[in-house]
Amino acid sequence: MSLLPRLRPAVERLRAYNPPKEGRAGLRLDFNENTIGCPPRVLEVLREITGEDLARYPEYAQGEDAIAQAFGHTPATMTLTNGVDDAILLAVQCFVDSGDEMIIVEPTFTIYRFYGELTGAHLMPVRWREREITSRVRRFELDSSALRAALTPQTRLVIIASPNNPTGHLTPPADLLDWVRAAPQTAFLVDEAYADFVAPGYRGLLDAVRTLPNLLVARTFSKSYGLAGLRLGSLFAHPELMPVLRKAHSPYNVNTLAIRCALAALREQAWLEDYRRQMRASREHIQSVLAVAGIAYWQSEANFVLFEAGERADSILTGLRRQGILIRDRRGDYPGALRITCGTQEQTERALAALLEFWT
Ligand SMILES: Cc1ncc(COP(=O)(O)O)c(C=O)c1O
Repeated sequence: MSLLPRLRPAVERLRAYNPPKEGRAGLRLDFNENTIGCPPRVLEVLREITGEDLARYPEYAQGEDAIAQAFGHTPATMTLTNGVDDAILLAVQCFVDSGDEMIIVEPTFTIYRFYGELTGAHLMPVRWREREITSRVRRFELDSSALRAALTPQTRLVIIASPNNPTGHLTPPADLLDWVRAAPQTAFLVDEAYADFVAPGYRGLLDAVRTLPNLLVARTFSKSYGLAGLRLGSLFAHPELMPVLRKAHSPYNVNTLAIRCALAALREQAWLEDYRRQMRASREHIQSVLAVAGIAYWQSEANFVLFEAGERADSILTGLRRQGILIRDRRGDYPGALRITCGTQEQTERALAALLEFWT
């Protein structure tokens, strides 16, 4: 008999989510992180941090204001979160009770299912539809009839990543807005963690939250800003919804260093734009090399590409690992699928050369 106090049934049923947390030395093209590190000015700010700064609880107001402004918002429509992960948890906690219906569109970021299951939500998984562009080039897209069938007045929350991980595809903002408008009783969280890589100045749904009280949009500092280790994200929502989100939020969810570093990173717009440009170029290069090699892949608008390695998946993963290059096994999402994160030109060339070596 277990000696533990009584657990919630949802916790007893929960499958642990165990992403690799160590052993990732080498060229890490497995987690869609920034592959060159954060902007240099962030490190200068870190060096100036004093013991007193760390002894105090974080003071948010000014930093939050400046970060909101950088996205064309104010704290009336934006709050900081401990990474997008925290924004997802907040949305689930605000809208979903045990037994409530929640929709996620799979394959997608594992955390949505994890928080849904932790809450005891009744998960209605919808699948992306796959479209063939050519025999080797494919694209995932929203399956409207599947979503229509799953979305009912009982649906409390829909979470959609755009661009989506691990497929890389973008759902057009206008299509998402049609769904949000059509189901005002349901909250929609659009996870735009990879929006920085779509196109210069891409705003996604950032402006739409001002007029749609059932829309939440999440952004992160983990990707192009290179601050994944500090855990910072931002959640945008309607001015009437924001006080509710703040009420349900842990008051000190974000740490002092994350806010100071984000402010420093935001002052490095030229550096950020240059890095994003390099990642878009790398993405196009990966896709064209895969096409020439006859390797099937899915069109991406993020900083990674999903491709079909089929039976060669194991030899590619271990061969690359032996050369110190990590890419991600996504065979749990799609048979034979691997995902490679974009790097600088040099990093990408190195990974592609190794990949082609183990392909033949
Ligand atoms: C779609 C998506 N959303 C959110 C995250 C995590 O973001 P954060 O580091 O801000 O928690 C990831 C991480 O890979 C992701 O793929």
